[in-house]
Amino acid sequence: MLLRAALFSLTCALFVAAAISTQQETFRVDLLAEKEWKGDGWSYKDCSLETDLVQLTSVSMTPEPPKAGQNQTVAVKANILNVIEEGAYAVVEVKFGVIRILNRTFDICDEARRANASIQCPVLPGYYEIEQTVALPRGIPPSKFKASIRGYSVLDEDLLCGVATVDFSPFRH
Ligand SMILES: *[C@@H]1O[C@H](CO)[C@@H](O)[C@H](O)[C@H]1NC(C)=O
Ligand SMILES: *[C@@H]1O[C@H](CO)[C@@H](O)[C@H](O)[C@H]1NC(C)=O
Ligand SMILES: *[C@@H]1O[C@H](CO)[C@@H](O)[C@H](O)[C@H]1NC(C)=O
Repeated sequence: MLLRAALFSLTCALFVAAAISTQQETFRVDLLAEKEWKGDGWSYKDCSLETDLVQLTSVSMTPEPPKAGQNQTVAVKANILNVIEEGAYAVVEVKFGVIRILNRTFDICDEARRANASIQCPVLPGYYEIEQTVALPRGIPPSKFKASIRGYSVLDEDLLCGVATVDFSPFRH
């Protein structure tokens, strides 16, 4: 199903964007409490612990608000605290309104290859700025989309925890 596949790739883009990168810079560690980023029609809540391997420092969406039928770019800045190796995986649950449309485990390194991300596993520790663009299909239901993401390393260490929402309903305000 096209819609399901596209939503799955949006979720993966969020996650892969968080895990994979374009450029490595100075290694930094920010030990912040629970973080949340919001914009017009979307939000991302970070439920990672300070010890999770992926520490997000920024999440943004272009354009805003996200709309069916447009190319959506997700930009993420993150510190990776330890190497992410083959075998890392994520459990993703996607809901439209109260209806769960997806609950699946996927291989992060495979998804990065599939998404043609610029850096591939193994991802070395460091500071990364990542952008991923996804074509949102026209047929997205005009409703609230919620994706919960939990990532784990091949050794089952916690990688990342997040809850993303995108509101596709026409009367959001
Ligand atoms: C999305 O991007 C693709 C590839 O760059 C382009 O062909 C397409 O026209 C874009 N779609 C929209 C709605 O802008
Ligand atoms: C979702 O999937 C995960 C692993 O694939 C499983 O452990 C969990 O029980 C599932 N949740 C529900 C509500 O089915
Ligand atoms: C993957 O990315 C490379 C370089 O950015 C590009 O040349 C290639 O066409 C892309 N392949 C796909 C399948 O998107």
